[in-house]
Amino acid sequence: MKDRVTIFDTTLRDGEQSPGASLQKNEKLEIAHQLARLGVDIIEAGFPIASPDDLEAVKQIAKKVKGPTICGLARSLKKDIDAAYEAVRFAKRSRIHVFLATSKIHMKYKLKKAEEEILRQAVKSVKYAKRFVDDVEFSPEDASRTEEKFLYRVVEAVISAGAKTVNIPDTVGYAIPDEFGRLIYNIINKVPNINKATISIHCHNDLGLAVSNSLAAVNNGARQVECTINGIGERAGNASLEEIVMAINTRRDFFNLKTSIDTKLLYETSRMVSRLTGINVQPNKAIVGMNAFSHEAGIHQDGILKKAITYEIMSPSDVGFGETKLVLGKHSGRHALSRRFEKLGYKLSKAQLDKAFKRFKILADKKKNIFDEDLKAIVEDELIIFAERYKLADLYIKGGTKETPYAKVMLKVAKKTKEAEAIGDGPVDACYKAVDKITKESGRLIDYSIRSITSGKDALGEVSVKVRIRNQVLTGRGTSTDIIEASVKAYLNVMNKIAYRHEPKLWQWT
Ligand code: KIV
Ligand code: ZN
Repeated sequence: MKDRVTIFDTTLRDGEQSPGASLQKNEKLEIAHQLARLGVDIIEAGFPIASPDDLEAVKQIAKKVKGPTICGLARSLKKDIDAAYEAVRFAKRSRIHVFLATSKIHMKYKLKKAEEEILRQAVKSVKYAKRFVDDVEFSPEDASRTEEKFLYRVVEAVISAGAKTVNIPDTVGYAIPDEFGRLIYNIINKVPNINKATISIHCHNDLGLAVSNSLAAVNNGARQVECTINGIGERAGNASLEEIVMAINTRRDFFNLKTSIDTKLLYETSRMVSRLTGINVQPNKAIVGMNAFSHEAGIHQDGILKKAITYEIMSPSDVGFGETKLVLGKHSGRHALSRRFEKLGYKLSKAQLDKAFKRFKILADKKKNIFDEDLKAIVEDELIIFAERYKLADLYIKGGTKETPYAKVMLKVAKKTKEAEAIGDGPVDACYKAVDKITKESGRLIDYSIRSITSGKDALGEVSVKVRIRNQVLTGRGTSTDIIEASVKAYLNVMNKIAYRHEPKLWQWT
């Protein structure tokens, strides 16, 4: 038995049947080119009889996409097969995929036909498709709910009629892995001419078992898997291509099989399909979800930093994901924190790390995720004394209930004194505008708070501000017995941070 599993991608046909996922012709073409780069063996590009647009899209793909076999779907009807051929005939390698339901439920209620009639129609349609292309695939729709003996007869008959691939669909996602694996095993052992065709499987995900059923089938001898990017498809979707491929790759010791997929392109292909279909990928989706390579638990982060294999069975780069993400939150430990500080360019001593870790834990209790900006703020607020480029030299304010607030601010800037005047909505606003004129910055105050840090009439007031500046949000603090002066100092603290943020050699550590 061959050791290679053929990947038959049906993102553009079954995947496009996902509720709300209609794609334009040019979008289909873009995805088809990407699937070719990814290395899929066969692209099922559409169902040409379904609409003139679908026929045209399949035709364009057949003409322009090089590499994979291009396949068109058809019911077991002459007009469908004619349309499928009309669409795929321009490809270097083309396939027609005909299907007909074989389960009692479908034959009785949908087709209203008896077994013998179905058998005749299946054979006739395969023979008709063979007039156009050598590569014909047949699917007995709802195979997993088809009476087994009848299924063997259908499979044998279509192979005799010339089908090169027989696909066994679990159309309604009803199968259970052991049972589906056994069905494939039985077909291989009970259909006399089975060695003349490749057995394929096509599993739907109604019970969340599409990938498991596909892998059970592969383990029992199926050598073509029909699947879609991100597992999109009719209802709960199809088996996900990326999960099948990475299971086969990662557990080569178990399957002893390979595929032709360039796994490094899996992530970008997933993003493209998600963007063009408008179907989001759930964050915890295996292989391509946003969280697939994120670790939050402290024990896991520590293990990952010591040796990735402790908690990672594949490397994010294997699927083109970038790098492992250690999400800093309340479960994170000192090891992950110090590594992140290093990445941000801060080399902390043990004592500084202890101090930063304490602040980090307090913050993490209040905030689910800690971002790089939060860490920079911890360092800047707790651990660095900024050399002050701007120092308040003097301040004069004027105003009243009937007068527009006015401020004149004098700053020491590298041994020189510079001054500016401004009016504003209040005395603090007027001062900040004057400071902006001197520093040539443009800060926007987004939060302001004041508290007294000593008692009595001459209590020291501490002003804290949050300022948006150069697309960043920085915090500043200033103290004085005069609240306007404390406010200006807090604002200048922000100005000093922005001035020195990119000049670490000027920092003084505590
Ligand atoms: O789910 C199904 O049975 C199908 C067939 C057309 C293969 O999509
Ligand atoms: Zn399907």
